[in-house]
Amino acid sequence: MVFFSRHQRRGLLAPVIAVLAMTANAAVDGNPLATSDQQTLDALAIKISQDKSFPVLTAEAKAAYKTAHGLPISEEASSSLDAAIEELAFSSIQKAVNSDSYFPKVYWVDAGPRNWFGLDVPGGRYSYDNPDCIYRTIPIDSSLSYIITGYRHGAGPTDVTFSLISDPNSQNTVAHLSGSDLVVNSDGSYTITVNSTSADNQANHIQSTSSAKQLLIRNNLGNWGTEKPDNLTVDLVDDTSGQSAITEAEIILAATWNLQESIVDYGVGALGIKTSLNKVNTLSAPSQSSTLGTLTTQASSFGHFDLADDEALVATVTQGDADYFVFPLTNPWIITSNPASQVSLNSKQAVANTNGTYTFVVSLADPGVYNWINTTGLHEGTFMVRWQGLPTSSSSSTSSTSSPAVEVQVVSLSELASVLPSETRYVTSAERQSLLAQRVAAYAQRTEF
Ligand SMILES: *[C@@H]1O[C@H](CO)[C@@H](O)[C@H](O)[C@H]1NC(C)=O
Ligand SMILES: *[C@@H]1O[C@H](CO)[C@@H](O)[C@H](O)[C@H]1NC(C)=O
Ligand SMILES: *[C@@H]1O[C@H](CO)[C@@H](O)[C@H](O)[C@H]1NC(C)=O
Ligand SMILES: *[C@@H]1O[C@H](CO)[C@@H](O)[C@H](O)[C@H]1NC(C)=O
Repeated sequence: MVFFSRHQRRGLLAPVIAVLAMTANAAVDGNPLATSDQQTLDALAIKISQDKSFPVLTAEAKAAYKTAHGLPISEEASSSLDAAIEELAFSSIQKAVNSDSYFPKVYWVDAGPRNWFGLDVPGGRYSYDNPDCIYRTIPIDSSLSYIITGYRHGAGPTDVTFSLISDPNSQNTVAHLSGSDLVVNSDGSYTITVNSTSADNQANHIQSTSSAKQLLIRNNLGNWGTEKPDNLTVDLVDDTSGQSAITEAEIILAATWNLQESIVDYGVGALGIKTSLNKVNTLSAPSQSSTLGTLTTQASSFGHFDLADDEALVATVTQGDADYFVFPLTNPWIITSNPASQVSLNSKQAVANTNGTYTFVVSLADPGVYNWINTTGLHEGTFMVRWQGLPTSSSSSTSSTSSPAVEVQVVSLSELASVLPSETRYVTSAERQSLLAQRVAAYAQRTEF
């Protein structure tokens, strides 16, 4: 975990140790993410990123992101662009190192920088990484047959989805298995088959089509302290082709292509069309779609903010039919700044109003409200609110009470109390520190083993 310098970590250690004793400890039965395949792929991605820096494409990416953002671009926003594009370039390499469908591995991607296995792994976040979500990939070829073996810890993550996608960048879904349809054995184990055979009435089967390229698995953790991602491994079945593994030159070609597509999909698409075209300090009406990495069972709302030191954005979220929602804040280049800071809250972490809605306050200064979202010093940034586990047939544009919704207003901090519900839960600064220490410790479990 390298979100904190060594010096900062020392200061945090005491509350962290106290809280670790209370939360599920990853060391008890191993960290599902700290696998030898993960170590192999992280090491390979680092090696390739050291050999190959994509100067032309990263320059192109910066230009595209700036255009998508629109003028003016403040110094504050400019200051985080280079780092965001470096993460985008590393994500393109991470996608490429696990693209060999004859030698499939399970790879955790789209995460912040970390130190583990003696490796200094750079961040590879892009396009609205969700701090709740463990994203893992498995390369798939429809002419081959795969068995995925899973193991669920306790009740498991709050939301689980297996999306077979046709392109690791645009992430269009071609087939889908949702967590609610997954059959898990009483001992927590499960297997999923992926091949081109149709198996209409068989549980845990995903039928691949000729356009399938990758299985993208999302494990959304609602309660970070107690929920663990599932164990996942993959085996290729009955392959007698004797195919040799893809070469480093092929991986670099794939990474180049990924970065090229990412510029269009995330720069022009996610940042430009989905986000910047909205009026500042508003959120678009929640909408369901199956493109750009969103799920068919998901509704999303995009927006960007511009707040003064003494202003707050107040958002009221209606959960509707969703099993889970998350309200995450991202920097101007649509990646999280420091997930261990309170930059997001989900429906399990936040406190609800008595009528079931949730009121969030987004501001630079801590207003002492339980459901505060810390901008981490940013005056400008972006949001992608997500509701998951929705029925696919539900229409997002109807105004029925079960539809997800979000309403936003900006007020000065001095007026904040007057616009917040009288039932708003406040915290003392000691409570804030303790909540934050719990969050930091829970987040750190992802890379402890
Ligand atoms: C789950 O994965 C962890 C870490 O690799 C391992 O220690 C544990 O034995 C696994 N559990 C099962 C049931 O496979
Ligand atoms: C494909 O999956 C189906 C459904 O699980 C299974 O019955 C069949 O044996 C698999 N095919 C191969 C070639 O493994
Ligand atoms: C808000 O986030 C910043 C940046 O991560 C951090 O330094 C600060 O301590 C956070 N404030 C609180 C009250 O958590
Ligand atoms: C639900 O309660 C909140 C907070 O008390 C209030 O702001 C909101 O208008 C209420 N919504 C409905 C639909 O009653």
